[in-house]
Amino acid sequence: MKTLLANKAQLRVCDSVTEFATEAAREFVRIVDESIAARGRCSIALSGGSTPGLLYDRLLSADFKQKVDWSKVHFFVSDERCVPLEDEASNFGNAQRQLIAALSIPQENLHPVLTEDHTPTESAADYEEQLKEFFGLRDGQWPQFDLLLLGMGPDGHTASLFPKTKALTETRRLVVENFVDKLQAMRITFTFPSINHARNIIVLVQGKEKADVIREVFTDETVSYPVQQVKPITGKLEWILEKTAAEQLLKVQKTL
Ligand code: 6PG
Repeated sequence: MKTLLANKAQLRVCDSVTEFATEAAREFVRIVDESIAARGRCSIALSGGSTPGLLYDRLLSADFKQKVDWSKVHFFVSDERCVPLEDEASNFGNAQRQLIAALSIPQENLHPVLTEDHTPTESAADYEEQLKEFFGLRDGQWPQFDLLLLGMGPDGHTASLFPKTKALTETRRLVVENFVDKLQAMRITFTFPSINHARNIIVLVQGKEKADVIREVFTDETVSYPVQQVKPITGKLEWILEKTAAEQLLKVQKTL
């Protein structure tokens, strides 16, 4: 693994998918332990897409599974598709099938977005109420997740905050419904204030198709991708990259 500083961020570049998953699992366990020791529980917002599956597999391995007091972990998602949990596109549904089902986690620790029999607007409003209740928030306050996982798409989107979509500029609501023109679909997503109040944010990026945007994000002052609005207010931001996602960046940025 290499570490490099780019644009004031610390990036870990892992030499293989296995090392990438291991590094992500190591950080996940460290943060969970730290949170439970400090607050008696750990609130985690999982990211969507396919990358988290690598982390889930690693967490279920003998190296990590027994290291976590899963009974004190609460799972949310940073964004969700407007499909039933059973649908293979469901972010929480996939987390349930690929990770949670293999763990003994109390039902009350699971916080999926309610998508069935809900319009996207109702789903977003209900999730916002779930966050307010869980974190004991008054109006104007923001959830402070112990760990918020994010991915990044080849267009620089993160969560379901896609380029040129309305949700990018939301500053009042915790969770919104967001129409994504390029997908011709509604998504439910955390807003940037909800993301940026987290204690720990880890952005996990793998895949060659993201290499150009990664290079631009960390070396080109003129670009503006949604993922660049991930700026924790008091928390810690870590990028964990799999080598092919960093290959263009590594051509122009020396490692430490
Ligand atoms: C989603 C995600 C999204 C994802 C990126 C990366 O619901 O699609 O939350 O932001 O993290 O698109 O997806 P991959 O991991 O599949 O490359």
